[in-house]
Amino acid sequence: MSAYLQCIEENCQKRISATTKAHVCPDCSGLLDVMYDFQITDPDKFKQTFQQRRLSNDPLDLSGVWRYRELLPFCSDPAKVVTMQEGNTPIYEAPHCAEYAGLKRLHLKHQGLNPTGSFKDNGMTAGVTQARLMNSRMVACASTGNTSASMAAYAARAGMKAVIFIPDQQIAFGKLSQSLDYGALTLQLEGDFDEAMKMVKEITEESEVYLLNSINPFRLEGQKTIIIEMLAQRGWKIPDRVVVPGGNLGNSSSFGKAIKELHDLGFIDKMPMVTIIQALRANPLHKTLIDRSARLIRVEAHTLATAIKIGNPVSWKKAMRAMEWTRGWCDVVSEQEIADAKAIIGRDGIGCEPASATTVAGIKKLIQTKEIDKEEDVVAVLTGNLLKDPDYTVNYHQNNLYEKASYKNELIERKDKIQSTFANAPVKVKARKAEILKVLGL
Ligand code: F0G
Repeated sequence: MSAYLQCIEENCQKRISATTKAHVCPDCSGLLDVMYDFQITDPDKFKQTFQQRRLSNDPLDLSGVWRYRELLPFCSDPAKVVTMQEGNTPIYEAPHCAEYAGLKRLHLKHQGLNPTGSFKDNGMTAGVTQARLMNSRMVACASTGNTSASMAAYAARAGMKAVIFIPDQQIAFGKLSQSLDYGALTLQLEGDFDEAMKMVKEITEESEVYLLNSINPFRLEGQKTIIIEMLAQRGWKIPDRVVVPGGNLGNSSSFGKAIKELHDLGFIDKMPMVTIIQALRANPLHKTLIDRSARLIRVEAHTLATAIKIGNPVSWKKAMRAMEWTRGWCDVVSEQEIADAKAIIGRDGIGCEPASATTVAGIKKLIQTKEIDKEEDVVAVLTGNLLKDPDYTVNYHQNNLYEKASYKNELIERKDKIQSTFANAPVKVKARKAEILKVLGL
């Protein structure tokens, strides 16, 4: 097998075996890439093979990750693959969103239509497969909710024990309900995601437990297929730009690696720009870029888009590299912009969770600032399903969404109201025909 791990630091580049249980370089603590001696000389032949596999009922071909296995060839034993037919997510044209953002056309690739409702499944099938290849019996992650839901499901499928570290009271209920149902040991830590991440890193370093956050480079190999599948669905027509939310920055990192590898292997002859959008007050990458800092500028993160409430993202260096390779950029959007963009995504009949809406909000902003041209061919990646965080959506439509709200059994304080610009509140009506007809205007 030709896979190995390699440190991403220019002045280190240490290579280690793909079966080493390490999530950072043993010499310099740099992030690791999974690297391969690819056996691909004729990309057109592989494009055809990928297409033909859509007609096959082989479990690997039915997966929107493993269908492209030659581009992530780290597992030589198909029997070890843990798959739930992940990927296979649609690309929708979104006319309301395009008009709202000011683009001629906009396409949304909806990763929220994965088995557990988020893009994490693309990565988790790869991560849990690697855990199985390493004979791990227990896996762990820190999470703002989606990684934990996904890991819990895939660990259950693989018969592994799952331990999740989540910030207490800070993850959406849809996500919490998933990990409980999938049988994960759920540790609610006092503190935020960044503290949970620190704890799980220490504990997995010192024990047999296998870490499945996106610092694990095998996770990112699976997430590369979001780009690969998107290109395959478009008949390999390359968009000008791919827009993605930024939290722990695993997804944007994997997009960069996918694009670079596809380019190096001759699958594509130009690289779509990777544009990362963060929430205004959960903006460590944006701050680091603007300040041209060589070190990450951490922040104490605040946003109602709890999925991306992260101030110390582990993969920031890989995200920087993705922007460098693709001439990409990072920008920020406000809570108000996220909330309104989310409602517009809903109006296209698509819907998503708040973090995903940073994409459409970001495109709108970048069109206004002329960073994006209205003729550009743009694909935005929606990362999570609408049903993950119903409280946010219902509060928005009932004109009851606040940037700061604290609860003690009931709401005790609320500040900084978000305007429900596109509210669609439910209408209370008596169960009488005449009254209903009146409301219907009939
Ligand atoms: N969108 C959603 C719905 C997410 O759940 C996340 C991350 C992101 C965007 C950001 O992606 O971290 O790759 O930059 N959620 C993680 C979790 C951190 O624990 O579920 P990223």
